[in-house]
Amino acid sequence: MWVGAAADASAVAAASAAASAAPGWIHHVGAGKSRPDVHDRPRGYAGGPEIRHHGLEVVDAEGRAVIPGFVDSHTHLVFGGDRADEFEARMTGTPYAAGGIRRTVEATRGASDEELRTRLARLVAELHAQGTTTFEIKTGYGLTVHDEARLARLAAEVTAEVTFLGAHVVPTEYAERRGEYVELVTGPMLQACAPHSRWIDVFCERGAFTPDEARQILAAGIAHGLEARVHGNQLGPGEGVSLAVAMGAASVDHCTYLSDADVAALASSSTVATLLPGVEFSTRQPYPDARRLIDAGVTVALASDCNPGSSFTSSMPLMIALAVREMGMTPAEAVWAATLGGARALRRADVGAIAPGMRADLVMLDAPTRVHLAYRPGVPLIRGVFAGDARR
Ligand code: NIG
Ligand code: FE
Repeated sequence: MWVGAAADASAVAAASAAASAAPGWIHHVGAGKSRPDVHDRPRGYAGGPEIRHHGLEVVDAEGRAVIPGFVDSHTHLVFGGDRADEFEARMTGTPYAAGGIRRTVEATRGASDEELRTRLARLVAELHAQGTTTFEIKTGYGLTVHDEARLARLAAEVTAEVTFLGAHVVPTEYAERRGEYVELVTGPMLQACAPHSRWIDVFCERGAFTPDEARQILAAGIAHGLEARVHGNQLGPGEGVSLAVAMGAASVDHCTYLSDADVAALASSSTVATLLPGVEFSTRQPYPDARRLIDAGVTVALASDCNPGSSFTSSMPLMIALAVREMGMTPAEAVWAATLGGARALRRADVGAIAPGMRADLVMLDAPTRVHLAYRPGVPLIRGVFAGDARR
């Protein structure tokens, strides 16, 4: 639900806890939709000031918890193909290698716009049904000028938060000419993708891009008006975090292998550490230490990293459960990281909390408190979602 001229978010929160509605609703409320003004005292409302809800509907939560919609600040939702075989092999001991990205690149290049759009729509519906109301999408499975621009354009059809990730890996055809690939990414590919993108990202990791290459790529994007974010310190220690902080990135994502210096650098910066426990779940890597980061004063976000290789899940409730069980977060910290933390990672001041003036993107749980998101893992607790248009 977009609460613009009609009312403020606190009124909607109050209204959500008030009258009656059909169970299991998922509502999209368009900004321009006109409704008659309503001015009444909701059924079961015991006292206090009358709720005046201009054109709002009133829903009885019947004691259920209402929380902000999840903000998933890191996904790779536009792709072709499937890598279930790779997952299966991992579960019998084959380690995760980011080289599998190239298989998805091949499948994505071979898919038509229509196929990609249909698959994307299915994944977006999946996110939404699990309470995610704001989500970022990266390119990165095209790796030609044409295909990266295509992915950016398709992503922009469903979200305002599009990230250009031409620097995901060096594609096979450039294996012996990586310098040329970096020139392509910082030149024609950036030109073609920037009009559809807000962010630039780079996978700074052994086997992907070196810190020098990553610096060059981020600088080109920033010079082009994009804002930086980084994939770093996923598979081992490295310079991803220090680079992200030095470049003023909004977020550095993964943060699985951190030195004390990395933690200190994050703590004294505005760069958010975005943790992606779906990756560790699916790759059998050690989970990142959220407790260490929070205790040091770092802002932590949780995101799904939904992608066909390292984390094929779109479930923010699962991220919350894993963060609590495996990463030392309290339920309150984990829900914060999956809502307001994600908003900080996307530099968004209008989502991630229920507060006056913010979008009233709301999730009603089939549970009395948010603690149940971790306490009842794997249970479909999303009773209903009120959300506006993720493209705005
Ligand atoms: O965030 N780390 C790089 N990219 C993805 C993995 C993509 C893949 O394996 O296809 C990630 O984990
Ligand atoms: Fe990722």
